This record gives sequence, C-alpha cells and structure tokens, in this order.
Amino acid sequence: MISFASPTSDSTDCSIIGAGVIGLSIARRLAAAGLSVAVYDRSSPGQEASYAAGGMLCPRLEFQKESKLSEMGEISLQLYPDYARELEEETGLCVDLRLNGVLNPLSCDASTTEINAAEVNGARLVDGETIRGLEPGITPEITRALYYEEEGSIDNRALTAALAAASEKLGVRIYPDCEVLEILVQKETARGVRTREGDFSSAFVINCAGAWAGRIAGEVEQVDIAPVKGQMLMLDCNGFQDKLPRHTIYSHQTYLVPRQDGRVIVGATVEDKGFDKSVEPAAIEALHREAAGMFPFLQDIQPRESWAGLRPMGKEDVPYIGALSPDGYYAAVGHYRNGILLAPLTQELVAREILGTTG
Ligand code: GLY
Repeated sequence: MISFASPTSDSTDCSIIGAGVIGLSIARRLAAAGLSVAVYDRSSPGQEASYAAGGMLCPRLEFQKESKLSEMGEISLQLYPDYARELEEETGLCVDLRLNGVLNPLSCDASTTEINAAEVNGARLVDGETIRGLEPGITPEITRALYYEEEGSIDNRALTAALAAASEKLGVRIYPDCEVLEILVQKETARGVRTREGDFSSAFVINCAGAWAGRIAGEVEQVDIAPVKGQMLMLDCNGFQDKLPRHTIYSHQTYLVPRQDGRVIVGATVEDKGFDKSVEPAAIEALHREAAGMFPFLQDIQPRESWAGLRPMGKEDVPYIGALSPDGYYAAVGHYRNGILLAPLTQELVAREILGTTG
C-alpha cells in the first residue's frame, strides 16, 4: 500500500472532496480495491446535485448525435445493471433502477429527418394507440412519440444513500460539514487537504466537488466549473395508480420521472444564476403546467416538494476525469446534466488511473 513521508493518525490513501454520487462511487470503488479512503463534504452527503437530479438514464435520447459524450453515456448505461444490483446486495437498499423505456412525445412539427435520425439512434416511432397502451394517463393529444426501450431512470436519492452505506461498510470515512479549503501540496505532490476541521494527509486527492470544484485553493491545476441552476418539483401521485406515468417522459426541457413509490419528479429549468438556489413559484408553476399538459390528472395534485440544484458545467462537453497536476491530484468534475448517468463509468476511469499508479 501507499507509504507517507510523515503519516498522521488521520492519514489515508485517498482524500475525496465531495460526497455526491461521483465522490461516493469512487470512494466505494477504491475502498473495495483495498485503499483507505476519506470523503469530505461541505454539507451533508448527497445533498447538492445528487439530491436535486431527476435520475434519468437516457443517453440516446439526450445526445442525439454521436459524440464522445454519447459514447460515455452508452457505456455507463451498460454498467448500470451490475452497479445497481451490487449496491442493493451490499446494502439491502432499493435504488429503483428502471430500464423499461423512455418516451419522447413528438410535436406536430417534428421533421422526418429528426425522426429518422432518432430511429437510427435506437428509438422506435410509436403511434397514439401504442402510447396509450404504455401510458394510460397521457393526453390523447399526443399521437406520436419516440420510444427508447432500453433507457430509464434510477432514484438518485436512494442511490446516494446506498453509496454512502456501502462505502461506510467498506471502511470509508465520510466527514459531513467539513469543507475543504485547500489542497495541500508538498514537493510538487498533492499531500492531502486542509479543511475547516483541520488538515488530513493522503497520497491522492480527488476533486469531486461538483459546482464548487473550482473554488478550492491550492497550488494545483485549477478546474473551471460553473453552476447551472435547475428548479424541479415532486408530485405525490399515490391514489392515481391507473394514471401515473410508468416510464420516464421527456419532452423538450420538461421531463417526468416516476418512482416506484408513486412520486413523480418533474424537471427542470436551466438557468445561469451563479450559486443562487432560490426556488421561484412561477418557475415551479410553469413546470407543473407543462407536466399536466401531458398528464392532465397532474393539474389537481399540488407539488409536495420543490427545490433547485446546481449542475456542474465545465468548459468541454465531456467531464474531466483523471489526473491533473501536481502528481497525486485527480479530478472527476464537470458532469453537468449527466452525473447520475456517468457515475459507474467515472468510478471505473478513476479507479483505472489510481489503481494503475498503486500497482
Ligand atoms: N439531467 C437532467 C437535468 O440536468 O435537468
């Protein structure tokens, strides 16, 4: 294992900054490989973008054109069944993975070129009768949709809870309310983190701090990450079992993601508002209205929760995952709208680099 120049009782092999889905996935993966890992979070684990997300897993629908990002999304989706099953086995917690298909209702002006491109991308064009067979509660005004049969969703909040539980079982130390102020560097090598609670040394430091990743001091290569606000709401549809959405429904910027317990998550705005996380009634009402435009029964259900989260957007379309300078410093940042989808692939990419280093 790794040897430290001057280890303290708080030394670990690896310090991870940020206990969201990305940080916790990497923590669990590295701990399972035998490394000692500590995770530092500025608030409570999983309470930022990982809490705010909808949990959609639909790379083909989201990325209509082939790109590095679409390829990453596709690979990560393939990893999801094992990732979710193993987590459920390790913790006894259900993460509600549903790969039962995603419906993308088409507006009447959808072009043949657009539809053909989606079909090439794996979608099936379905008519009104098929749509109502899949979704009895949907408005009859929707007469055409693209159906991505292998895509779906996961309950991101349950996923975060399972990742934290599985990590702790493997001996990962998770420090809540422990903001990392600086990455410590000695002899041009990352040596640990300075937090509000003190210094912690480690052989590796991995920055998984989401929208806050660029705000950590230290003589390290900086990452340029901007927050992009998303407001969302939750409707509790218990009692409407015959009408509630059975699939993820994705229409332009509004999406509905059903959970197995009867909740329906509706998202999301995309706003450049810095670190502002205020929730505006007008934005929530607009999303609610759009959702009810697709599923009319939703108009009578009052939102039970509304919130805003900050997507971490980097300079490139693809997240940055891997080594930065100096030696020992890594990042998994800039996942923007795709942190939940890309978590299984991200953990593998980081593990490959770090475990390669440790031999
Ligand atoms: N992944 C969906 C969103 O960021 O709103």
